[in-house]
Amino acid sequence: MKERTTVVVGVTGGIAAYKTCELVRALVKRGRRVKVVMTGAATRFVTPLTFRTLTNEPVAVSLWDDSPGDPVHHVSLAEEADVMVIAPCTANVIAKLAHGRADDLLTTTALATEAPLIIAPAMNMHMWRKDITQANIAALRARGAVIVDPTSGDLACGDVGEGRLAPVEAILDAVLAEASRARDLEGRSVLVTAGGTQEPVDPVRYLGNRSSGKTGFAIAAEAARRGARVTLVTAPTHLADPFGVEVVRVHTALQMRAAVLARAGDADAIVMSAAVADFRPARPEAGKIKKGANAPDAILLEPTPDILAELGAREGARPVLVGFAAETSDVERHAREKLASKRVDLIVANDVSDPSLGFGTADNRVLFVSAEGTEELPVMPKQAIARALLDRVRELLG
Ligand code: CTP
Repeated sequence: MKERTTVVVGVTGGIAAYKTCELVRALVKRGRRVKVVMTGAATRFVTPLTFRTLTNEPVAVSLWDDSPGDPVHHVSLAEEADVMVIAPCTANVIAKLAHGRADDLLTTTALATEAPLIIAPAMNMHMWRKDITQANIAALRARGAVIVDPTSGDLACGDVGEGRLAPVEAILDAVLAEASRARDLEGRSVLVTAGGTQEPVDPVRYLGNRSSGKTGFAIAAEAARRGARVTLVTAPTHLADPFGVEVVRVHTALQMRAAVLARAGDADAIVMSAAVADFRPARPEAGKIKKGANAPDAILLEPTPDILAELGAREGARPVLVGFAAETSDVERHAREKLASKRVDLIVANDVSDPSLGFGTADNRVLFVSAEGTEELPVMPKQAIARALLDRVRELLG
């Protein structure tokens, strides 16, 4: 593990940039290595020399600075970052980040980094309230960015309303929280399952379910970012492989079982977020079932093995086990029954009767159910759920 966390502080062109001096000073005081990157507009409000003096590090502004020995500045900054915070962040830079644009050193660094991104917006209240700004903020949140919301008060333009940079202490708390997570799973091995299994009926048809795999992929990506060795066993999804994760692709419950059991011995934690079919066609047809007189009027089903219960039944030293429960009623009671019957450490339960949440959506609302009690989380992006879940796994690992 690195001795000191490195915080890359991005500064964009807003009057609140002067408050970033306080943020930088507070981070330096707490022993963090701070590297500041500014947009051209930001340098009109605060000079690079100010930040250079506060951090004792060079301040980066241009993509075209030719520092000897560091020809690809945005990549080196992106790699050095354990956390990146942009404060203040203008509406313009928020829009660029939301759309993956990278036309200066700050936005290029933000796009290139794998580190968690914290954004503290500051702007005129009308700009903040605009649908397009709110949509951009929602898109960034859904991709895992932490937004430190602006507060209300006097704005530089003379208006009174929402849009003031959040207090420095609030931004500092967000940065320190992310920094403490950085690499906290180093040396651990985490096995995650995702997606909905597909059980063949014949060579072209299957029984499936509505799981998109988003939550499992988010958990795998977050665990890798926090330093774990991660294997993701996934049923078919449309999602791209998460960075730094070994991905094993399977189709059926039986294939998933084989892939998980083969790797379970090496895992410190197993997170079963896959929607594994509970039943499969007992006798899938070898040829395509045709319409007509020979078409079957029923498909005979047989139960699949319960992978999680099998892992839970193992005696002796075993990994931390996390199961999921998708329920349509009595969510907590059913989750608690699963916690006991499958002998797992934690159940992540959600109510799938609400069509705006859960399957295929970016957000979800879940309960963490364990022997210690039940924690009810608010509606949040699946990335944020992944973060909170791994905080719990980290505690359970001891
Ligand atoms: N699971 C598993 N193997 C199966 C079925 C489910 O490992 N064959 C895991 C899932 O990955 C998930 C949890 O068990 O972590 C879900 O439990 P399950 O009993 O399948 O929930 P439901 O299907 O909702 O059960 P029920 O229909 O009985 O409510």
